[in-house]
Amino acid sequence: MVDRGRRPVRQPVICPAHRRPGDARSKPPHSAAFGIDIGGSGIKGAPVDLGDGVLAADRLRIPTPQPSVPEAVADTVADLVGSFDIAAGMPVGVTFPAVIRDGIAHTAANVDPSWIGTDVDTLLTERTGHDVFVVNDADAAGIAEMEFGAGRKRRGVVIVATLGTGVGSAMFVDGTLVPNSELGHVLLHGDSAETYMAESAREREGLDWQAWAGRLQEYFSHIEFLFSPTLIIVGGGISKQHKKFLPLLDLKTPIVPAKLRNEAGIIGAATLARRAEDEIGGPAASGRAGTPDTTSDKSTTKDKDGTKSKKGKKSKKKDKDGKKATKKDKDSKESATKDTSKKT
Ligand code: BGC
Repeated sequence: MVDRGRRPVRQPVICPAHRRPGDARSKPPHSAAFGIDIGGSGIKGAPVDLGDGVLAADRLRIPTPQPSVPEAVADTVADLVGSFDIAAGMPVGVTFPAVIRDGIAHTAANVDPSWIGTDVDTLLTERTGHDVFVVNDADAAGIAEMEFGAGRKRRGVVIVATLGTGVGSAMFVDGTLVPNSELGHVLLHGDSAETYMAESAREREGLDWQAWAGRLQEYFSHIEFLFSPTLIIVGGGISKQHKKFLPLLDLKTPIVPAKLRNEAGIIGAATLARRAEDEIGGPAASGRAGTPDTTSDKSTTKDKDGTKSKKGKKSKKKDKDGKKATKKDKDSKESATKDTSKKT
């Protein structure tokens, strides 16, 4: 068992792009963390260079096990992490498509209902042997956009909306995340808006761009009225086709495509994990990225020996089970692909 009261050994990674032969110190090393994006069809991960907000190696994608129950997904996540030669103390950020509070999943709109009540943070920390920080997927994408993408240095109320199977949202006030905003579930025509205007609704109903943009217009006008944002950023896989629908929208608020696209989740999760690890026990811990939360019981606490640790977070398991779980599993490795195509 690893003593969670002690800070993990930090292993700064030099961004390969900045390393010159024989001149390793030509640029200061960038800090790194590992990012994982859990989606309905694929689980993707890669180490992230947090200096530039880019992947430090090709990402690996493993199909999401079906049914996507916690144990099976945890095995896949451990397998994915175990496939990379990353430093023992490197924190791992993981996105999950649900409300995440204190590392626990509280909803399951587009995932197996057995996730509700699961301590995702502890499960994955134990299974991977790394300090895992779990965050809502849209919040992670938002963090990446604010840090390295379309929202850089933007103040006021910035809303990042991810259009996919569901609709995720990340809301920032002067750069600070308001976690779990779940704006895809505001009511539109008597139901969660996402059932009407998600990318999956466009596909399911065979809507052309004009018809879909009409639905987006209704949705974003409503969001604009409720929150008076200074900027709306549209992410999700479909955002690479933004020219087909964003110009059709007529809003008072500037609405722009996300810059990081498919990698936003991985980069945002890694950013969060590094932040949380650096402030271990501080406000950036699971589900509370960038938001001081004085009400949470997972706050900074002092162990008997006076070391800072995260209250409520269980010890990392580096025993037989943990090792077994991170060991590469041939079967799932066969279906895994080093993904350079940048496809979701
Ligand atoms: C979920 C959100 C998630 C979004 C995108 C929604 O259905 O409620 O938590 O961020 O889908 O995956």
